[in-house]
Order: sequence, then C-alpha cells, then structure tokens
Amino acid sequence: MSVNKLEDLRQKKAKILAGGGKSRIEKQHSNGKLTARERLDLLFDEGTFVELDAFVKHRCTNFGMESVEAPAEGVVTGYGKVEGRLVYAYSQDFTVVGGSLGEMHAAKICKAMDNALKMGAPIVGLNDSGGARIQEAVDALSGYGKIFYRNTLASGVIPQITAIMGPCAGGAVYSPALTDFIFMVDKTSQMFITGPQVIKTVTGEEVTAEALGGAMTHNSVSGVAQFISNNDQACIEEIRRLLGFLPSNNLETAPEYLCEGDLSAVNDALDSIIPENPNKPYDMFDVIKQIVDNGDYMEYQPYFAKNIVTCLARLGGKTIGIIANQPKVNAGCLDVNSSDKAARFIRTCDSFNIPLLNIVDVPGFLPGTEQEYGGIIRHGAKMLYAYSEATVPKLSLIVRKAYGGAYLAMCSKDLGADLVIAWPSAEIAVMGPQGAANIIFRAEISKSENPIETRARMIQEYTDEFATPYKAAERGFVDDIIEPATTRPRLIDAFDMLSSKREIRPAKKHGNIPL
Ligand code: HXC
Repeated sequence: MSVNKLEDLRQKKAKILAGGGKSRIEKQHSNGKLTARERLDLLFDEGTFVELDAFVKHRCTNFGMESVEAPAEGVVTGYGKVEGRLVYAYSQDFTVVGGSLGEMHAAKICKAMDNALKMGAPIVGLNDSGGARIQEAVDALSGYGKIFYRNTLASGVIPQITAIMGPCAGGAVYSPALTDFIFMVDKTSQMFITGPQVIKTVTGEEVTAEALGGAMTHNSVSGVAQFISNNDQACIEEIRRLLGFLPSNNLETAPEYLCEGDLSAVNDALDSIIPENPNKPYDMFDVIKQIVDNGDYMEYQPYFAKNIVTCLARLGGKTIGIIANQPKVNAGCLDVNSSDKAARFIRTCDSFNIPLLNIVDVPGFLPGTEQEYGGIIRHGAKMLYAYSEATVPKLSLIVRKAYGGAYLAMCSKDLGADLVIAWPSAEIAVMGPQGAANIIFRAEISKSENPIETRARMIQEYTDEFATPYKAAERGFVDDIIEPATTRPRLIDAFDMLSSKREIRPAKKHGNIPL
C-alpha cells in the first residue's frame, strides 16, 4: 500500500471525525450538550464502537446543497458492546446541517436498524436534530417513513431505546414514539408536533418550547417519555443501566446477575409495613425495596400517573417487571393514565420475556365524570387486555385492598395469574366495608333505633367476614396466604418454579387491544 493512499484515508477519516467543525462543536458544548461521537463513546464499553457508513454522502443539489459537505451525513451509526453485549446505535450530529434528516441520513439509520433486527440486538437512537432536511423535501419525508416502518417491524423483536438530546419536532417525533423507551434530557431536549410559533399563529396560544415539549412536560404531563435525566452523561448511564435489565431480543431472557446473600433469608420488616388502619396510606416503595435484590429498582415513568408504580428490578439475580398500586397517591385507585402506563409496561415486559410481579393494594377505579368522559372504560380495558394477553410468568401478591373490577384488573387468578399469594392483611371483595354496609344493610340500618351504632356493627361484621383473604383462598383464587416476612424467598422460589412456563394461545393475526 502506498503511503499516499494511507495518508489520504487518514485525512478523510479525520475530516469526518471533526463533524461540523470547531465553532459548532463549541456551540454544542456551550448549550450543555455533548457531540454525537462523545455520546457514543459514553454509551459503549471503551474501545468497542465500530462506525459504519462514515463515507456516506447526500445527493441533494437544491438550494446550494451541492456545495455543502456533511461529514457522516449528520448521523454517526454503528455497533459496539454494552456490558459485553452487542448493541446497535445511531447518534444524530447537530453540528452537521443541524442533524437534519435527508434521504441518505435516513438510509444510514435504516441500515443500522435492519442489522440490529437481523442480529437480534437492541438499537439505541440518540436524537438531536432540526428534523426533516428542508432542502431535500419529499426525500426527507420518505426517509422518516422508512424509519417508522422499521420501528414497527422491530417492535416486540428487539428492544428499541430512544434518547431525545436536543430538538425533535414535527413528524420526527413519531420514530421515538414507536420505540419501547424514551429518555429525555432536562432543559436541553424538546419534542412537539408543532412548535410555539405555529401554535401562536394558529390558535393564538403563547407557550415556551420548554413548557410545550420539554423533558418534564413529557415525563409528567403527556406520558410520552418514560425517563428524565439532568444531563447527557446521566442519560447515557441510565440507558446502559436499562439495557442490563433487558434481553437482546424476544427469543432470549435478560442477563442474570450474581445475587449475593442468603436467598432464603426472611425479612421481619415486612410484617409491620402495612398500617393497622386500612385507610392509612403508606409508600409502596417501602415494600418493593424490602423485596427486590439490594433494594434496587429502575422506575419506569416515575413522574406520570404516580398512583401506579412500574419498575424493573431483580429477584435472585433475574429481571422482573413490577406493577404495584401506590396507596399514597389517590389511595392507589386506577384511572385513565395509570391504566395506560401499566398496560404499556406489561406489554413491554411480555414482549421481552420479563416475568411480572403485581403487588396489589387497590380500592377500585377512580370515580367521577372526568374519568368516565376521559374513557376509563376504554383505558382500563387495556390493562385487562395486557394482563390476559401476557404469557410470561405472572405472580400477584395481594398485600391489602383488592376490590371489585380493580381486583380483576390487577391480574387476578382469572386473568391468568399463575400464582396468587396474599398477606393476612389482604381484603378481597366486591367493595370496601363502608360502601358495602350502606348498600346491603341499608334497610336494617335505617330501621334500627341507633343507626350509627348499627352501621358501625354491620361494617365490623362485614370486615371480619369479607375484608380478608380467606374467602378468596377458600375458592382457590388465592393459592396461599403467607407471613409477609417470608415474601422474598417465597417469590424467588415461585419465579424459579414458573421459569419453565409454556403457554400456547390460538393462532391469530394479532389481537385488537382497545386503544
Ligand atoms: C436543514 C437545518 C434544519 C433543517 C436546522 N438546520 N434545521 N437545515 N433542515 N430542518 C441547520 C440550520 O440552517 C443551521 O445551519 C444549523 O442547522 C443549526 O441550526 P440553528 O438554527 O443555527 O440552531 P438553533 O438556533 O439551535 O435552532 C435549532 C432549531 C432550528 C430550533 C432546530 O434550527 C429550527 O427551527 N430548525 C427547523 C426546524 C423544523 O421546522 N424542522 C422541520 C420540522 S417538520 P448553519 O449552516 O447556519 O449552521 C419535520 C417533518 C418530519 O421534521 C415529517 C416526518 C413525517
């Protein structure tokens, strides 16, 4: 090989690595953002990232684009290892034509997606882009269409993770929306279909970009994103952590971690965690922390629909997905948003062979016109559907209330729970004692000489008889009632027993989940 050819290659590569140049990189840094390549360096195990398609060029000649050099076509793509496992990634380079997406930029992303799908490896998209490259017109739109199509084909096959690390506007938001997980970086990322300018022109509304589509808006109000981080570094660290909970594809199980300590150890703290007064709230995380390995979990949508908790954790070193009512928020009632959150999480876990642990303390569905008009029937149905559809091991732990439709919706035996375990504090019935007494003992109470005393007595009778797990256990709807202290070893054993579960369903094109 002549020295000239090698030198030529080196110069070409150095030019590509320089991205949009020094001043644009400085601007990126001064905006609190890392560059596309710095982000990839953090994402992958040191020295494992292999770039592909660095020499790809756009073919646009409109509006002076023929003279625009766009190193790596504004997006760095390739593969590498995360904790030793293969992962594909693309990272949009805002310093190159604003990370805008044209025909060839999209082609690079599509190639990475096709390879990730073929190899059965997760794909991580780091988005930082001005959207469709305006000069490329319909070619740019077509590029997005091709990505959306691939997002859908890959859905349920390989984990797709998106991080929004800059602007993401217009139809561009729909690729992230089609993926399994969306991370956003606080204050430096925004997602919206139409920006503040357009909104002002069309509706007269005035709103800042941050309030409209910032990270906290999408994490707490719209529910579009599942995770928020303070900066690029923290975001990428969280993506690596998430990958550790996931299998590489739908034919594998998540990697197992070494769990130190005695797996059969009981934990007395759980015996006193449920307050004596059944109406007193407590923090469900206090329960979760006492059960999972090292008290460690990764919460999914921590700021959205806080009345339900969804998180990934490990039991005996193996990944599980936890869905739990949160008694300290709206008494843990189910509503429109918590149903959506739970249903999506259940389906995500089921897609990737992650067993489900349902921790139940639910007084019912939230009453009110707002909920009924908001379609609680349609949204609540998603939860019933998602649980019934899931074929992964499903284990329900009833720690306190399990009333009415919400008892069913939290994965009762009849919705296919493989094992239902209750604590002695469980109350499983059609409704709570107060409401029940008002209805079934109404006549008796109104006729009595001392209605207040009679009502209290009736409530107590109902509580003693029905607000327990024993009626459900008599019918076999509860498999066992256990001492709370023994919960962790019991669950580890149960998931171990369920690990060989196989369930064959009737063949169909696909189900029709209520949307
Ligand atoms: C071509 C673009 C671009 C785009 C930015 N640039 N967006 N070039 N097409 N969509 C270029 C700018 O010309 C500039 O080039 C460089 O990128 C950096 O942009 P700045 O404006 O200087 O950066 P900043 O001030 O940080 O503003 C960022 C921005 C703004 C808010 C994203 O650039 C912007 O509003 N861009 C247009 C956004 C948009 O409307 N996109 C289309 C959305 S619709 P120089 O050479 O000066 O550095 C869409 C449809 C998809 O995406 C449909 C899919 C179905």
